[in-house]
Amino acid sequence: MNKSVKILAIETSCDDTAVACFLDNIEISSVVHSQLEEHNKFGGVVPEIASRNHIMALPTVLNKALIEARYLLQEIDYIACTYGAGLQGALLAGVSYSKALSYALNIPLLPINHIQAHIAANFVTTAPPFLCLVVSGGHTSLVWVESYTKFETLNSTTDDAMGECFDKVARVLELGYPGGPIIEQYAQKGTPHIEFFKHAKTQNMGLSFSGLKTATINYIKKLDKESLTAQMYDICASFSKTAIDIVVSNTFKEISKRSVDKIVLAGGVSANKQLQQEITKQSRKNNISVSVPPLKYCTDNATMVALCAYYQYILPKRIPLPKQYLDLNVNSGLELSQSLL
Ligand code: KG4
Ligand code: ZN
Repeated sequence: MNKSVKILAIETSCDDTAVACFLDNIEISSVVHSQLEEHNKFGGVVPEIASRNHIMALPTVLNKALIEARYLLQEIDYIACTYGAGLQGALLAGVSYSKALSYALNIPLLPINHIQAHIAANFVTTAPPFLCLVVSGGHTSLVWVESYTKFETLNSTTDDAMGECFDKVARVLELGYPGGPIIEQYAQKGTPHIEFFKHAKTQNMGLSFSGLKTATINYIKKLDKESLTAQMYDICASFSKTAIDIVVSNTFKEISKRSVDKIVLAGGVSANKQLQQEITKQSRKNNISVSVPPLKYCTDNATMVALCAYYQYILPKRIPLPKQYLDLNVNSGLELSQSLL
């Protein structure tokens, strides 16, 4: 029988400082320190502030995760850390910290792709093969996940990511950051009757959000204060519905080309209940099952990093030598299909 291993996972790609302790693929502790308050007043993430906050928060978050897990640093068998995609400085904070730990403890460092980790968040509840709709602040893609280690991007946004579009519209509406959750709340109180696209049908659109973003922002800018207040909920409802229609129609376009019996969602926007309901409704008609990660694993966390490390490196026994990754660098534009193995 294989010996169980202790994994320490570190995630700092954007504005959450996260550390998790795992025993094989079982979560023992998972701590997330959100920097939201630091960034909210600027209406979005300020990269420089994010990097500094990661550096300050990492020792405390790491200690909390170790104490909750009752793990000693010396007992850790592997360190896994996100090295891309994300904000350069933010990634550097986590990668440098992980490299220092790896060097000091003489244990292997497992470099993790952030988008693959978002997909791996689903391994808590389900197993491949499945079609994954990745919808985060930085990515929107449809990915065929053949196995725990085999990912194929089928379609990707040509411009803005879905979450980015929610954040930008929320910013113009002065609703704060991140925009997704608040737009979702407002949308529930409104009616989606505004047609931002007069002529285009979302069913025929590719995976693109900049047209919707521009049309929505132009619509908002033409309104005086009073009309904007009166229409706020309807604008959010109409914008959300159109954005969801775009991803759902693109998902089912892919499904029409291949045999799929399971769809999973990944990334921050997968927390959106309306998106979950719409995907589920369409899937039922096609006898396809739908799986969404538990809410706390939709947005950035280190549990998904540990799961990705377990299924990509530890289970298939693809372990780098302890010092192999000490020259590891961050890659802010890392693509989904790229990994260091
Ligand atoms: O995956 P994530 O935490 O970070 C990235 O890797 O980008 O995703 C953050 C994004 C933000 O754009 C945020 O507005 C969006 O996810 N988001 C949502 C919801 N919760 C978070 N968008 C729509 N509805 C939500 N409930
Ligand atoms: Zn993310």
